[in-house]
Amino acid sequence: MKIIHAASEMFPFIKTGGLADVTGALCKSLASFGHEISFFIPGYRKILESPEFKKAKLKVVLQVELGDDFLRGEVYALPISKRQTLYVIRRDEFFDRSNPYGTTNRDYDDNDRRYIWFCKAIVEAMHILHIKADILHCHDWQTGLAPLFLRAVEQEHGESLVLKTFFSIHNLAFQGSFPSSSFRFTNLPDDFNEVDGIEFYEQISMIKGGIFFADTIMTVSPNYAREILTPDFGCGLEGVLKVRREDLIGIANGIDVEIWNPEKDEHLPANYSAKDLSGKQECRKALLEETGLAETDKPVYGVVARLTEQKGIDLLLKQMSFFIKNDCRLVILGKGDPNYERTLKRWAKSHPDKVGICLRLDERMSHLVEAGSDFFLMPSVFEPCGLNQMYSQHYGTPPLVSDVGGLHDTVVDCRTNEESGTGMLFDPVEADFKKALVASLKLFANKKAYEKVQTNCMNRDFSWTNAVKAYETLYSDSI
Ligand code: ADP
Ligand code: GLC
Repeated sequence: MKIIHAASEMFPFIKTGGLADVTGALCKSLASFGHEISFFIPGYRKILESPEFKKAKLKVVLQVELGDDFLRGEVYALPISKRQTLYVIRRDEFFDRSNPYGTTNRDYDDNDRRYIWFCKAIVEAMHILHIKADILHCHDWQTGLAPLFLRAVEQEHGESLVLKTFFSIHNLAFQGSFPSSSFRFTNLPDDFNEVDGIEFYEQISMIKGGIFFADTIMTVSPNYAREILTPDFGCGLEGVLKVRREDLIGIANGIDVEIWNPEKDEHLPANYSAKDLSGKQECRKALLEETGLAETDKPVYGVVARLTEQKGIDLLLKQMSFFIKNDCRLVILGKGDPNYERTLKRWAKSHPDKVGICLRLDERMSHLVEAGSDFFLMPSVFEPCGLNQMYSQHYGTPPLVSDVGGLHDTVVDCRTNEESGTGMLFDPVEADFKKALVASLKLFANKKAYEKVQTNCMNRDFSWTNAVKAYETLYSDSI
């Protein structure tokens, strides 16, 4: 099949979270299954400055209508593997910035213009370059209007570019909502600014565009697909999603086992496998050394996360005395909310031998935390899929996770499943999290039982192979 993907992130070119890991690995796997992949991405500074971009070829200059203006953009093509082409849509005024979405404290003021323009530019580029495909698959709000613009452009020119459109929700909390006045940038007829269009509580919502107008809506785990139909997780869009529930499908993400492989991982001081875990001890030692923490025979708990409410940082902060009282170690790699950063800094300062923090984005360190910790923590309030709990299992580090979203689908509680348990699941409330922490201390003290859970973790198959087969079937059944 010919498949076009469009998203705002793709590993290794640009990443702020799991979206990048997923689009990168999914497209790589689809290409390895023989499909031809085109991928549209905004020309962010990080991409323009990457050594790979030197090989990109300018394909076409676009003039894209945005409200009363026509704004110029350039489309560069960069072959990234035998069957994958990256189309970088460049408009430096919009995308040549150090961060994709905003500064630490706030989103950029022109995100409405930037991403409405991007959605239009994707479709315009497909039209001018005659890029036709079986499937157009868009991810998250930044590309939410592309399925809608696609059909408008097809109608205008009386041609068919794509047979079916897919839209993936990676996180319903990010909706691309803008004031109603931004609607004019779409140049769509006014009836699209209504309830059965992209209007949403007197604003416009780009994610609603994807949900309403794509042929199939996907999300990144079966459990999250169920959860988002409820007010607790639907972020106000549960009603819209219910209208489309027949076309809503959840497939759990996989992980890229070429990049995340403890047997070969070049980011680690030592490699290891399920058969020989001795290298993991070296990783643990290195992790403690790098974060300035003292050795201990109690567990080392690791966290790698955007420091946001979603990731359950509040719950974590309520348990700080647990780690300290029990002589455990806590290593947190994360960046985000300045309030969380300040509070964590205070804990690290007052307990420098027990609490280690790295408040930065650091790909190498994220691998070391996965490998060097004894348990991985994800007390998320909600979690569409989550990747770190899969990385940690693959690295023999049992995760303690909230029983929500994709965490529910990918972790097996060892307290109720002695034979196949890989970690612990708890309700994201203080008492339940505490119980799991106490149980993890006990488990860690029982070397044989702990190693059994570790082995169960490492024997699970989280590779993309199964997920990609499911994507393939969905795509081919739809056309
Ligand atoms: P989300 O996309 O909601 O942030 P995921 O678990 O799906 O959550 O994916 C997060 C990704 O971002 C993982 O690859 C994780 O390792 C990475 N990550 C998060 N914070 C950092 C950080 N400070 N440094 C390096 N990688 C990070
Ligand atoms: C989002 C979600 C996360 C998911 C990722 C990739 O960022 O928050 O749970 O794993 O997308 O799909």
